[in-house]
Amino acid sequence: MQALVDRIQKDGNILNGDVLKVDAFITHQVDPVLMEEIAESFYQAFKEAGITKVVTIEASGIVPAVYTAQKFGVPMIYARKSKSLTMNEELLTTEVYSFTKQVTSTVSISRKFLSKEDKVLIIDDFLANGQAAKGLIELCRQADASVEGIGILIEKSFQPGRKLLEEIGVKVVSLARISSLENGKIAFIEGDA
Ligand code: G4P
Repeated sequence: MQALVDRIQKDGNILNGDVLKVDAFITHQVDPVLMEEIAESFYQAFKEAGITKVVTIEASGIVPAVYTAQKFGVPMIYARKSKSLTMNEELLTTEVYSFTKQVTSTVSISRKFLSKEDKVLIIDDFLANGQAAKGLIELCRQADASVEGIGILIEKSFQPGRKLLEEIGVKVVSLARISSLENGKIAFIEGDA
């Protein structure tokens, strides 16, 4: 997606060699016009898949996921990293380890929101080590829901997440694919949409 690549070039910043800061338009301040274009790209990529739910994980997956869910006209569910006061029903639960933050979170979705009739599109802002997406696939599996695909805004293709998800056998559509953040430069390979 050229508009996303251009924006990363313009407003993205490299931190500590392998972390890309995109807080000016995705992860903190949000550009809704760009989000709408991102959602349209995911819609075009998955419109034949019969999607019934969009699933993401808090926090920064929520914004692109809700824009995408609106395009499909389906609900968006975000897995929670802490149990909310009102979450008193049966839960689907798994552990997600963040390599970047070096913490393990227990993530959950109320069982009542996913069922074996659901065809799920998983959306997340970054694909790095793939642990977040793998955890979401596991929650869908616990509900016997089928995962039709994974939509990623920014894939760090030099990290192992993409390979991990392809080995699981899920279709991955990444709008921007970064091959390197070395020497202060953001290098791209061709995106999937
Ligand atoms: P994964 O997301 O593929 O599982 O890989 P990893 O364990 O490395 O990522 C952990 C967290 O770090 C994720 O956020 C992910 O979005 C974020 N992340 C990974 N690489 C980058 C990067 O280059 N830039 C930025 N800005 N974030 C990155 P999270 O812990 O799930 O939560 P949240 O930050 O959305 O709340």
